[in-house]
Amino acid sequence: MHDIGKIGIPDSILFKRGLLTDEEWQAMRLHTIRGEEICRPMKTLAPVLPIIRSHHERWDGTGYPDRLAGEEIPLLARILQVADIYDALTTARPYKPAFTHQHAVEIMLEEARRGWRDPELVPLFAEICQKPYVDELNPAASSVTMQQSLENMRRELSK
Ligand SMILES: [Fe+2]
Repeated sequence: MHDIGKIGIPDSILFKRGLLTDEEWQAMRLHTIRGEEICRPMKTLAPVLPIIRSHHERWDGTGYPDRLAGEEIPLLARILQVADIYDALTTARPYKPAFTHQHAVEIMLEEARRGWRDPELVPLFAEICQKPYVDELNPAASSVTMQQSLENMRRELSK
């Protein structure tokens, strides 16, 4: 839903295998604003508009569309960003393989150190992944870590 604005982006850009040109990147970046415009008329979606608009902002202010920095970026957008990046890293794309959980978390921690991501949320996500967690998809199973649960869900979804 946060990427609903991509509906207006040509497939030739969305599924391009090579690097995007500057013009194509500009079109791609518009999905945040487009998504907000699409959802704005629906009153029940008002609480998620900041997520849709701001999920590509960066902690250091180098993101888009508004170049918000730090806590100017809505918390829900920062939380969704953590999940979105984890999903992108652990999913195979035309230009890269699916990374393992550990590799994905290392990349996210590195991006937080570099100043791109929330320096509290990303380590918190990494920490939570290691904690015991009751798998809601399979409550009969003994408790697993969040990491195992995420891997189980990914396996189920890829079937
Ligand atoms: Fe997006």
